[in-house]
Amino acid sequence: MIKHEKFETNSIILLVGILLTVAIGGLVEIVPLFTIGETIEKVEGVRPLSPLELAGRNIYISEGCYNCHSQQIRPFRDEVERYGHYSLAAESIYDHPFQWGSKRTGPDLARVGGKYSNDWQAAHLIDPRSVVPESIMPTYAHLAKQPLVLPNIADHLKTLSLVGVPYSDEMIKDAAADLAAQATPDADTEGLLQRYPKAAIGDLDGDPTTITKMDAIIAYLQSLGRMVDFTTYRPELGAAKAEGGQ
Ligand code: HEC
Repeated sequence: MIKHEKFETNSIILLVGILLTVAIGGLVEIVPLFTIGETIEKVEGVRPLSPLELAGRNIYISEGCYNCHSQQIRPFRDEVERYGHYSLAAESIYDHPFQWGSKRTGPDLARVGGKYSNDWQAAHLIDPRSVVPESIMPTYAHLAKQPLVLPNIADHLKTLSLVGVPYSDEMIKDAAADLAAQATPDADTEGLLQRYPKAAIGDLDGDPTTITKMDAIIAYLQSLGRMVDFTTYRPELGAAKAEGGQ
């Protein structure tokens, strides 16, 4: 007699068996979530996106860039050699929803920030083939023509703060001003850079007169993967720091 015949011919035993299996599977999935506070280490440098970067991220999502680009460098040698340090969980801690993606028609973008100049990014989005002749990426020239109209950017920050993104009252209050300052040449960006270190500032899209969707998406792309300083980052210290240790 085959052993599982007992299960298959007695519905009560089968039911108990199913319940047991599902319960074990459930525990294995759910229990680790209780320790998530400790398992995702806090890493120095990771900050919420600036208002302009956040606007750019919204455009990234609405244009469907994630259909061709992932934002997660896996810890394998070929990935690390091509894209840089593997992605840390903490680097997408403020992403709602995260943009890890699963499709790479184009390269991973998790560390594309600072890889190219703003001019290159604008030229590439307007006409990818002008800088990468063999590219199959679609053109996004319309982004350079469309002004960025976002009267409710402060509400975006406020909403994200409700789900745990640490936007302070000051950041929310100054959201509209910060958004404008980041893409305006010669604007006073001292406060902005204090709130959002390393943010790309100035005329990002080559058109200093208007803040366009192109400014926003370039600000976003330039922010990707640059927040953590990997010359000083030491994984084994991350957890200790989170607990207030050295
Ligand atoms: C149909 C697929 C596709 C879509 C959609 C797409 N891309 Fe690309 N992308 C590519 C391919 C292929 C490349 C590699 C060739 C090149 O550099 O143009 C690329 C390259 C890039 C690069 C340069 C990466 C590097 O490390 O060299 C950036 C930046 C980029 N894309 C941004 C975007 C953004 C932003 C969007 C949405 C507005 C987008 N892409 C939408 C296919 C796509």
